[in-house]
This record gives sequence, structure tokens and C-alpha cells, in this order.
Amino acid sequence: MIVITGISSLVTNDASLERGKLGIINNAALVVGDDNKIAWTGEAINLPSEFGGAAINVGGRAVIPGFVDSHTHLVFGGDRANEFEARMSGKTYTAGGIRTTMAATRSASDESLAINAHRLAKEALNTGTTTLEVKSGYGLSVKDETRSLKVAGEVTAETTFLGAHVVPPESTIDEYVDLVCGEMLKHCAPNAKWIDVFCDHGAFDVDHARAILSAGARAGLGLRIHANQLQHGGGVQLGVELGAASCDHCTHLNDADISALADTNGLTVATLLPTAELCTRSKFPDARRLIDAGVKVALASDCNPGSSYTTSMPLVISLAVLNMNMTCDEAVWSATAGGAAALRRTDIGSLHVGAQADFALLNTPSHIHLAYRPGVKLVEAVFARGQLVAGSLR
Ligand code: NIG
Ligand code: FE
Repeated sequence: MIVITGISSLVTNDASLERGKLGIINNAALVVGDDNKIAWTGEAINLPSEFGGAAINVGGRAVIPGFVDSHTHLVFGGDRANEFEARMSGKTYTAGGIRTTMAATRSASDESLAINAHRLAKEALNTGTTTLEVKSGYGLSVKDETRSLKVAGEVTAETTFLGAHVVPPESTIDEYVDLVCGEMLKHCAPNAKWIDVFCDHGAFDVDHARAILSAGARAGLGLRIHANQLQHGGGVQLGVELGAASCDHCTHLNDADISALADTNGLTVATLLPTAELCTRSKFPDARRLIDAGVKVALASDCNPGSSYTTSMPLVISLAVLNMNMTCDEAVWSATAGGAAALRRTDIGSLHVGAQADFALLNTPSHIHLAYRPGVKLVEAVFARGQLVAGSLR
């Protein structure tokens, strides 16, 4: 059992507490049971005597649920620093850069792919991310997608088959869609929980995306879609039609897209990825418009070597508040509970009794500082499944 007291502000995201969107408890204590789940939260003054004894006092700092980063591409070889440099000199971002990483990924050993994915997962953990979704999508052959998913499975249970990232140079689009829906899906499905398609300019159109997602659903995978990132298209409407857990990017939306998302009552989450807009110098999605319409919004890093080479959820939160008109509370909720909703999980992203004990200690008195102090390392310690996995409480 671990008992933590002296928490100036505890973000629980527990709606049943009726303490606003974040379920904030001031002057709080938190207890982790021997089953590594949350056993108790409340005002420290009310801590039951059975939890007394060896408490750790964190001296007036904030605790938040661990971040749930529901969209990453951590399995890849090489990097694209040259492409980034060219972009910063005026070149436009296109889907075609994915093929550069495909070549580097195909020529990388299993071991080096795993080392790189573990390095990035550790980097994420150190900034407070306790759950990651990880996609394949840089192999684009049966062999390389299969081994990418095996590596993804080493770092998370939330693995996503993204064979339909772009068409590799050796195939026509029709040949490749047949491969993704057939042989590749057959080999990849056992190592994947989800299937995703990049439905956008330079990648897959709505009809191909529908065929691929439907094949994935028949194979028992949950659905996610990269939609409306580079231009307006039918990706969001397709995601809603097929009951996807999440439509990701959502940069170019019209009113019909927003009402379609809102009409799902949160079943299909809009996952916004502001570091992708930051790193491609693109317009940010309008989170305010989505939230005001009643859409459930998640925030994620999109960590990948092309459009968003960062694992930092605190940076994502700052951008969402500073550039997307989200409130501090909304951004922290979307990076924790919102990510959990995008993965259809109720055991993470919230510190209700019985939840997995995943949380981060900040070196600030409240979660507001995550947006207020952009770029500063504020996460001092991280617990995942009840174990201290980064930093220290002292
Ligand atoms: O989510 N949009 C598609 N895929 C990634 C980018 C991949 C890349 O450029 O390597 C994204 O931004
Ligand atoms: Fe992505």
C-alpha cells in the first residue's frame, strides 16, 4: 500500500465527485492498494485511520492522472531531420515523406526498431505518459508490418495496424488495398487491437478506407481513422458511419462533420494532435467549435519522425490552450480521460477508486501550470500500475 498526502490539488477526473470536469480535491491524499489500483482519494483530513502510518507527504504539489497518449507512431527507423529543415525553409508537408521512413524501417533490424520504440516510450513516461497507443505503418509489406506490430506490442497493449498509411512504391493502389485487406491483415491482426487508415490527400480515399476498415472490423479489430488532416474530405463522416472509436487530426472540418461527431454522444472521439500542426506550420484545429457542439475531444502527441517528432503531452496541453482555445481544465481532461475514451478504456485516465494507479506528481501547485509554463519540465515523478517508474517523490 502507498499513501500520499500533502497534495495541494488532486485531479481525479472522477465525475461522481461532482467537483467540476476534473473532479479536483484540494489538500488531498491518495491511497494505492496492494492490487496497484486506487484504493481511496479525498481530503487528507478525512484519511481513514486504516491508511494512516507511513504516508509520503509531497509538500503541496499537484497530482494528475497519467497522460493517455492515444495516437503515436513509435515504430520506425531513421529520422527526417533533413525534411524538417527543408520544411522550415518553405517546403510544404506531404504524405509522401512516409516513404522515406518506410525505406529506413525496412532496412532496420528488429533489435534497432525495438531500441528506438523503447527509447521513445521511456521519453514519454518521463513526461507523465502512462499509456501509449502505438501504430505500425512504416513497414508497408506483410513482413515489415508484422514485425512492426510485434515491436509495438513490447511497449503497449494498445497496438494499431496502420498498413494503410500510404501505398508503397512497388504496388498500385488497388493491389495494395487488396494486400492490406487480405494477407497483411491476416498476419497483423493477431498482434493488433485496432486498425487505422490514413484517409487523406496523397494516401487513401474514402472508398479504399471503407474497404480496409470494414475488413479490419470483420477480423475483430476496433476502428480508428486519420481524417481531415491535410484537407477537407469524407474521412470523419466515414469514421462516424463505421462507429470508429476515434477520428484523428480533424483539422479541416465543416458543420456537418462536427454534428456527425456530436451525434455519436462521445462514442466517436475527435482526437486533436496540435504538435502535428506546430511542426508542419499548419493551421490548428478549432477545439472550441468541437467542444461547444458537444463533441468529446482527446489530445495526443502523434509522435512520428515526419510531422510531429515529440512525445511531450505537456507541450500538447500548452498548445491546445494557447492556440486552440481550450481551457486549462479541458486540455488536461482531454490528455487523460479523453485519451482513455478514445481507446474505449474506463480503467485509465481517471483516479476513481478501482482505477489503475497511473498518475504523475507535478512540481507545481496545480495542473494549470502545464499550460501556463510551456516547455518547462514540470513532471517530477510518475507512477504506472502503482509502481514508481520515473523521478522521485521527495
Ligand atoms: O499522423 N498523417 C499521417 N501520418 C502521420 C505522419 C506520418 C509521417 O509523416 O511520417 C501523422 O501526422
Ligand atoms: Fe498519425
